[in-house]
Amino acid sequence: MAIYPGSFDPITNGHLDLIARASGFVDRLIVGILRNESKHPLFTVAERREMLAQVVSGYPNVVIDSFDGLLVEFAALRGASLIIRGIRAISDYEKELQMALMNRRLRPDIETVFMMASEAHSFISSHLVKEVIRLGGNISGLVPPPVEASLKDRLLKEQALKV
Ligand code: PNS
Repeated sequence: MAIYPGSFDPITNGHLDLIARASGFVDRLIVGILRNESKHPLFTVAERREMLAQVVSGYPNVVIDSFDGLLVEFAALRGASLIIRGIRAISDYEKELQMALMNRRLRPDIETVFMMASEAHSFISSHLVKEVIRLGGNISGLVPPPVEASLKDRLLKEQALKV
């Protein structure tokens, strides 16, 4: 069993591609949403959970969960022995290596596996997707269609609050 942790604010096609590939080689994949209000997320954990559930419904061995506190403790609590993280570029690797080594020090029995993002998704991040849509750019193909709809809806509300 493996955990794929992240903020998923919101899920992108890069995340989804990784979920699709990882679910093919683990018996069960738990997508773990970090509950962290200090990151000022655009979507609540419940909203992120719902979006994720909608887009992973075709993968029977994928479940959605959320956690706070230490990732390795969450993994241990769920009985997962693998943490899966996606790497897009060398710049991701440095931060990911640091986290993986810290997690190994905390719980040597839990292994981190890095998966390379597909070339088509290697430039996508939740952060950039939000920036592009806020500035009026086209994000189709970068996030699943229901997520694009939720983003448009949320940003329209944001803009309505500003006037
Ligand atoms: O999608 P993100 O924001 O890059 O995901 C980061 C995440 C959730 C994997 C990371 O922030 C995390 O593991 N947080 C839990 C806190 C923790 O365990 N910290 C110590 C280990 S480095």
